[in-house]
Amino acid sequence: MSPAVTLSFAQTDERRILVVDDEPAVRNMLAVFLRRLGFEVETAPDGESALEVLRHAEFFLVISDVGMPGLSGLELLKAIQGLAQPNDPKAPDVIIVTGKPGERVAVEALRGGAYDYFAKPFSFDAMTLTVKRLLERRKLQREAHEYHTLLVRMESEGEHARQAVQALVEAVYAKDRYTRGHMERVGRIAGKLGTYMGKSEEEVQILYQAGTLHDIGKIGTPDHVLTKPSSLTESEWETIRLHPTVGANILAPISALRHVCSPVKCHHERWDGSGYPDKLGGEDIPESARILAVADVCDALFSDRAYRVGLPESTVREIIRAGRGSHFDPAACEALEDLCEAGQIFEPLVSSRSDRRVPDDEVKSPC
Ligand SMILES: [Fe+2]
Repeated sequence: MSPAVTLSFAQTDERRILVVDDEPAVRNMLAVFLRRLGFEVETAPDGESALEVLRHAEFFLVISDVGMPGLSGLELLKAIQGLAQPNDPKAPDVIIVTGKPGERVAVEALRGGAYDYFAKPFSFDAMTLTVKRLLERRKLQREAHEYHTLLVRMESEGEHARQAVQALVEAVYAKDRYTRGHMERVGRIAGKLGTYMGKSEEEVQILYQAGTLHDIGKIGTPDHVLTKPSSLTESEWETIRLHPTVGANILAPISALRHVCSPVKCHHERWDGSGYPDKLGGEDIPESARILAVADVCDALFSDRAYRVGLPESTVREIIRAGRGSHFDPAACEALEDLCEAGQIFEPLVSSRSDRRVPDDEVKSPC
């Protein structure tokens, strides 16, 4: 009676089987065989006792005879299904065994949700193969269930996070009407730059998201500083310079947005190390932040702000070209220049401007 088929239990935590049969010899023989395969086996002489055992312990499989005093095997099958929640991956499967072979019982068993059906006398090798197949199916089902649960949780967390963050973005807009639209446009420009620079779909999505949130830290900047129509004092600049760090701190606890913290925090760093908050330089600045910096300044210069109306496209391009290798990453500047040539940057931005244009010498700091 040694098993001809070897099972690998190393990968499964599904070890417990309940054997239900009113004939002691049959249930004991099956139990001995299954224990030799490495399973933990309990036995029950009838359906009622089996249900009692199932109420107090978990089993991945019930192998049940059909014809028994009291509950039949088919009735036990139905009762077992009533014990579990729908789609519960821990619910036991049932294999039906009968001494009275007949198509009707087999059909009823399978229709009733049994995993398989055996007529006595059955081959232990065949039973072993069926149990092995069942273990593989349950493993796949469990993985699918875990993946689904994870996705649902991520979506739910992501949705709550998005709602909370959107409320903050709206609060920033309420503080400074000139930022309305700026963050979304920066997200779109940064995404286009990333795509053009050959970034992966995921990286482009991060760029877009980081752009739409990059100034969220301005929620902590006093209104009179944000909307001041004249030059800022040094202490007011100090306050403004806190916004990348404040923004990253707001986003850091939100797992769905953790990946955008770094570009948000570093979007005012400069290639030559003269930026803020950490005076990072060159490739020490995360690439996403270097791309974001170009997108941010491009939109900030071109669109109307509290202290000036937007600059002409040619002037914006000239300023960014002049900052190549000092303020900006040369690669990101080149990508912007190419996309500008292709008409993909400024044409969609025109709605961000009023009709009034002013001379270039009114330009203050772009962000
Ligand atoms: Fe900013």
